[in-house]
Amino acid sequence: MLPRTARRVDATSRKDPQERDTVSAESVTTRAAQGLPRNASLSEVSRAASACRACDLWKAATQTVFGEGAKKAVIMLVGEQPGDQEDRVGRPFVGPAGRLLDQALAEAEIERSEVYVTNVVKHFKWSPAERGKRRIHKKPRYSEIQACRPWLDAELERVKPEVLVCLGASAAQALLGKDFRVSRQRGQLIESSLAPHVIATVHPSSILRARDDQSRHEQLNSFVQDLKQVARVVKRSVH
Ligand code: URA
Repeated sequence: MLPRTARRVDATSRKDPQERDTVSAESVTTRAAQGLPRNASLSEVSRAASACRACDLWKAATQTVFGEGAKKAVIMLVGEQPGDQEDRVGRPFVGPAGRLLDQALAEAEIERSEVYVTNVVKHFKWSPAERGKRRIHKKPRYSEIQACRPWLDAELERVKPEVLVCLGASAAQALLGKDFRVSRQRGQLIESSLAPHVIATVHPSSILRARDDQSRHEQLNSFVQDLKQVARVVKRSVH
């Protein structure tokens, strides 16, 4: 069940020695798995994850943000990691990106009750802004994503979604391989053992960062089109 990655991880950003990532991926996944009870229910897994210390991200985060939604959801949406508001509230996708996601789901006529939302990393990774009190999102390292992987696998095993949707490059590359390019393959059905149907699309945060209103509007439209594709797949496979 667990990825057996024995090689040492060196997702080194040569520009930033702070980001040097030399933790063994096997050691971190094993650490998280030790807190994972066998045959545990989704709520029990969520409780176990709240005490996860498999990597160092818990130190600066307020709490673990586990996935939530229908326990047997047909669709699982996977983002990157909780943001500032999610970290404070303890629930995924409740901040600005979550509000945009809700809007797009509604436009695609996907009910929230059909959906389970989660992230590949369950602690908020951030650094303080140079001025002021803002906490600036930092991209998780490969080893941090690996450390958290047993929790996501546990969610997948229990929810067993019919359609798995990766939101953005971090989720897509974590789940579909580092060569996956959302820009080229978004909206397409991807062959994967993770779920009967797997699709990747953009992360709603990228739409929030659009340079102007017109571009934001176009990007939102494309995102809704991808979610409509998800809705069609659900209709075909469930009905
Ligand atoms: N971005 C994510 O990827 N996940 C969240 O839960 C919120 C913002």
